[in-house]
Amino acid sequence: MQRLLILETTCDETAAAVVTDALDVLGSTVASQDALHERYGGVVPEIASRAHVERILPVIDETLRRADVAISDIDAIAVANTPGLAGSLLVGLSAAKALCVALGVPLVAVNHLQAHIYACRLAAGRDVFPCLGLIVSGGHSSLYRCRTSLEFDLLGGTIDDAAGEAFDKVASLLGLPFPGGPAIDRAARSGDPKKYDLPRPLLDSPRLDFSFSGLKTAVRYRISRPGETPGKLEPQVVNDLAASFQEAVVDCLVGKTMLALEQTGMNVLCVGGGVAANGRLRQRLESEARTRGIELHIPPLSLCTDNAVMGAIAVERLRAGLFEELDLDITPGLVRQSAG
Ligand code: KG4
Ligand code: ZN
Repeated sequence: MQRLLILETTCDETAAAVVTDALDVLGSTVASQDALHERYGGVVPEIASRAHVERILPVIDETLRRADVAISDIDAIAVANTPGLAGSLLVGLSAAKALCVALGVPLVAVNHLQAHIYACRLAAGRDVFPCLGLIVSGGHSSLYRCRTSLEFDLLGGTIDDAAGEAFDKVASLLGLPFPGGPAIDRAARSGDPKKYDLPRPLLDSPRLDFSFSGLKTAVRYRISRPGETPGKLEPQVVNDLAASFQEAVVDCLVGKTMLALEQTGMNVLCVGGGVAANGRLRQRLESEARTRGIELHIPPLSLCTDNAVMGAIAVERLRAGLFEELDLDITPGLVRQSAG
């Protein structure tokens, strides 16, 4: 049996996991930085990378303790090196390289987006490929044809804000706490999704792309007219705006995902990323999948938001003999052609 130590520092969670080559999870830790970024209403890259530096070693120690293994029992180190915030990615990669040198074990690269879809494979306990992949997070909203766990073709994505980013920015406009997604999800439960007529950008186009920036601006102008300073909103107005906004985002995500399934002829759908934790999105995807006979995989909440367990996709690379040299670099941006 081989044991992998997996590191995840692509954005604002410092995470580590120990997973076996049989995909058994021996231990996992996620140190959230939400409290550090809350007052800014979004992730501040410099704060994120500094916090990773402080936390990466304690998080690794805690993970080994939970897994009840010694560092000398680790056979390979895996690390997410793309995509993400440059400073954050560098912390994980540097720690991984140092451990590889010290332990004399190989380095395995993890693509964070592929890992989000692999969370579906882990939750299902069986193969889910080929599938259509919808990744909706703070940094990405994209549709992929996932031919295998390691071969993805990008079908479309956001042309401006990511879905999670839109949730976070609208939450901030509504005076709700960061991260905005869970706060809007909660507020929307007491709101009327039909109260405000908001746009569904690109929904009527045959393109498999998303756009959420105009929707965010539309919410802004429901709060106060251009040039006016927004006053304090009544709680019911906040709930109704949250519900109407969430419904518009979900309409766009579900509409384009169904279009992608039709266009590709695929009948398995895997959803990953923090926004996949959204209650209304899950409900709508479940009902569409049932009606259309689509096999739907959405991981449990702990595997939707950033974590290191999903980096177990490294086991697939290990099996394929895909190791990295110690000059491996970070790739912060999304490679448009493919996530593979
Ligand atoms: O995947 P993730 O943890 O980090 C990135 O790789 O970006 O996603 C974080 C995003 C945040 O924008 C957060 O607001 C959103 O996921 N999110 C949600 C929910 N839970 C987290 N969005 C909508 N509804 C939720 N319940
Ligand atoms: Zn993520």
